Amino acid sequence: MSADTMKDIVALCKRRGFIFPASDIYGGINGFWDYGPLGVELKNNLRDRWWKDMVVTPPIGPDGAPIEIVGVDSSIIQNPRCWEASGHVGGFNDPMVDCKESKKRYRADHVFVLIPKDGQGTSFAFDKDAEQSDIESRLKKFAKGKSASDFEKEMLDKVPAKMFASIIGPDAKEPGTLTEPRQFNMMFHTYVGAAAGDENKAYLRPETCAGIFLNFKNVVDSSRTRVPFGIAQIGKAFRNEVTPRNFIFRSREFEQMELEWFCEEEEVPMWFDFWVEQRTKFWEAVGIPKAELHFLDVAKEDLAHYSSRTIDVEYRFPFAAPGFDELEGIAHRGSFDLTQHEQFSGTKLEYFDQAANKRFTPHVIEPSTGLTRGVLALICQAYTVDESRPSGVYLNFQPGMAPKKAAILPLTAKEEHVPLAQKLYMDLREDFAVDLDIKQNIGKRYARQDEIGTPYCFTVDNDTISDQTVTVRDRNTMAQNRIHMDKVKEFVKDRIR
Ligand code: GAP
Repeated sequence: MSADTMKDIVALCKRRGFIFPASDIYGGINGFWDYGPLGVELKNNLRDRWWKDMVVTPPIGPDGAPIEIVGVDSSIIQNPRCWEASGHVGGFNDPMVDCKESKKRYRADHVFVLIPKDGQGTSFAFDKDAEQSDIESRLKKFAKGKSASDFEKEMLDKVPAKMFASIIGPDAKEPGTLTEPRQFNMMFHTYVGAAAGDENKAYLRPETCAGIFLNFKNVVDSSRTRVPFGIAQIGKAFRNEVTPRNFIFRSREFEQMELEWFCEEEEVPMWFDFWVEQRTKFWEAVGIPKAELHFLDVAKEDLAHYSSRTIDVEYRFPFAAPGFDELEGIAHRGSFDLTQHEQFSGTKLEYFDQAANKRFTPHVIEPSTGLTRGVLALICQAYTVDESRPSGVYLNFQPGMAPKKAAILPLTAKEEHVPLAQKLYMDLREDFAVDLDIKQNIGKRYARQDEIGTPYCFTVDNDTISDQTVTVRDRNTMAQNRIHMDKVKEFVKDRIR
């Protein structure tokens, strides 16, 4: 897969109603996306599966008994002091660079610079994902015959300030148009109430986990939860990303699925391994093979301010291939959040263990994943080119994730076929998301179902009238078999389990 594949995926998502640019008729708005009729089904399927695996039927713990996890749904806007305590007001910053010529803004840690090894001439800045062929062709044009091997590579945020005058920005023609990196807070803010003064300033949450920490005491006081236990939440998060990119991968409004697992400090290594294993199983169960995942033990210097250890579960997104990019982070957050919120709010957030008669602040392990980023991974993984079929491509979703589990197709719009198809549809729609598609020739209808990833098509034809059997067409193999109409529900049920 390549960057071109990504373009094809984006086009399919729009053509078939998965994902549209937000405000499309106004020309869009960078970093914001809308989910169409099929996209919202896919997103809900992934969300529901996560919620089921976490909250409804949590995994079996190392001692053989089910672990305990409860859910919350907290407000997007919280008391702004919360974001001072979490470190987001002071520290949620990215180093940013503006280009005076192109008027573009870049994250300094996403740009590298090629500096001439001989110290002579101009340096060139590139996006960190730039293709080698583009790098060479730009150098050929502007660097007097030099090739990439004549340069040293350095990240832009590490380049000394005095050198900025000799750098040509990624989209510029003249050197010296890049500003030095400046800090830029990524939280969106608003004003609560009528007055727009600093005292009314509030923030849209940049991560969902804060609402969990703020409710730790409420949950412990109001339920029978006992450490170790978890609190889960799914919801929107907002970050004014400097360079939203790669379709929905990095957007400014997105959804997260986060679990905060509260345990004793001594048990952190055991639970950390437990969660890495559980989360890997989850991604495999929804259709991402382990071979497409990579587990990055994040280097000490790259850890978030709250974490002493993080494993990033990375997926081979087409724009990163043959490399990987982050799908989920599993972080040991220590007691950072409860301690900070205790200090800033003045409310004790310790846990009292009645059995051991001791008070302590639990440590936290946090598997945090992007729901919308997960949707992108499912689409990329499902995208399968097959020149032999009319659609040229099909989406090989794991049946449980597919937006439509089955399509019911009368072979023709003839009077005899349609009522039988309607009968089957009325029976199935009680249990699954199914399509009834009557018009157009059958080849076109199969092509549409292939492109939206429907695993099974059931076709009513003349034989159905005499023996009540329908053909079942398998999306992946295109093989067709006959099956009795009465067996269709069981057939689908068995395969989406
Ligand atoms: N509470 C921890 C936290 O938010 P993070 O690594 O910043 O950690 C967790 O985010 C996950 O949220 C990421 O692994 C990614 O899946 C998703 N995510 C973060 N920023 C995103 C963005 N701008 N667009 C889409 N998904 C994003």
